[in-house]
Amino acid sequence: MPKLTLGLVGLGNIGTFLAQGIIDYNLPYKLTFANDIDEQRAAAFCERFPALDVQLVDLDTLAARSKVIVEAAQMSVVPVIARKALLAAQQVEATKYLFVMSVGGLLRLDEEFHRELADSYLKIIAPSGAIGGLDALSAMTLAKMDHVRLTTRKPPKALGRNDKELTEIYRGPPAPAFEQFPKNVNVSITLGLSTVGLDKLEFVLVSDPGLAQNVHEIEASGSAGEVHIVLRNVPSPGNPRTSYLAALSVISALRRFSQNLLVGY
Ligand SMILES: NC(=O)c1ccc[n+]([C@@H]2O[C@H](COP(=O)([O-])OP(=O)(O)OC[C@H]3O[C@@H](n4cnc5c(N)ncnc54)[C@H](O)[C@@H]3O)[C@@H](O)[C@H]2O)c1
Repeated sequence: MPKLTLGLVGLGNIGTFLAQGIIDYNLPYKLTFANDIDEQRAAAFCERFPALDVQLVDLDTLAARSKVIVEAAQMSVVPVIARKALLAAQQVEATKYLFVMSVGGLLRLDEEFHRELADSYLKIIAPSGAIGGLDALSAMTLAKMDHVRLTTRKPPKALGRNDKELTEIYRGPPAPAFEQFPKNVNVSITLGLSTVGLDKLEFVLVSDPGLAQNVHEIEASGSAGEVHIVLRNVPSPGNPRTSYLAALSVISALRRFSQNLLVGY
C-alpha cells in the first residue's frame, strides 16, 4: 500500500507514542504534518523525531494536506478539526479519515454537522481506546440487547478525590457524568456510541483506594448471549492518566486500517 500522508493534532503522550509506533511497526503512513498549541512540546516532538521531517502547520493546512488525520489533543479540538477536515474533503472530492482519541468531543458535533457528515467524503473513526470487545458487543446490538453496563474503578487520586473506602460516585447514563468528570468518561462514550447508545448504557464510576490502576468491567446480555470483560489497565509510561492500552489502540487502529487482509474486524 502506498504511504498515506498523516497529520497529527496533539503531540503529547498518545501523539508521541503514535509517532514512535509508525517507526517501530513500519506502518505505511508518512507523518508529515503536526500541530500542538504548546510550542515547547511541538519543538520537542520535532527534535525527538528528526527522521520524520515533520512540518508544524496550522489546522487548516493540516486538514487540507493530510489524507489521514489523528486527533490526540483534547475534546474541544474535535469539532474544530472535524469541520475543517470535512470542508477539505469536500473541496477535493476525495475521502479523508479522521481518527479521534478525545471521544468526548464527538458529543460536541451538532446536528447540522452530522447531516453534512452523512453525505460527505469524511469518515470519522474512534479507536477502541482503553477498552475492547466492541466488535462482539456491536454485533450483539443488532439483535435484542437487555443491558450494557460499564463499571469503571479508579484509584481516588485519579479522580481527584481522597476516599478512604470504596465509594460509588456515579451511576446512570454517561452524558450527565460527562460534565462532572470530563476526563473519566471517554471509555463510557466509546462503549455507548458503539453499542446501545448513550441513553441506554448504564455507567458506574467507583473510587477504589485498593487500586493502583484503572479497571473497566463490561457486562452485557441479550438474545445473542452474554459478555463479561474485565480490563485491568496499566498506565502509560508517558502520562499516568492515559492507559497504555489506549495509546496502543490508535497504533493498532491505524495498522489495521492499512491492511488489505483484515481478520477479527
Ligand atoms: N479514547 C480513549 O479511551 C482515551 C484514552 C486516553 C486518553 N484519551 C484522550 O486522548 C487525548 C490525548 O491524550 P494524551 O494522554 O496524549 O494527553 P497529553 O496531555 O499527553 O497530550 C495532549 C497534547 O495535546 C495538546 N493540545 C491540547 N489542546 C490543543 C489544541 N487546542 N490544539 C492543538 N494541540 C492541543 C497539548 O499541548 C498536548 O501536547 C486526551 O483528550 C485524552 O482524554 C482517550
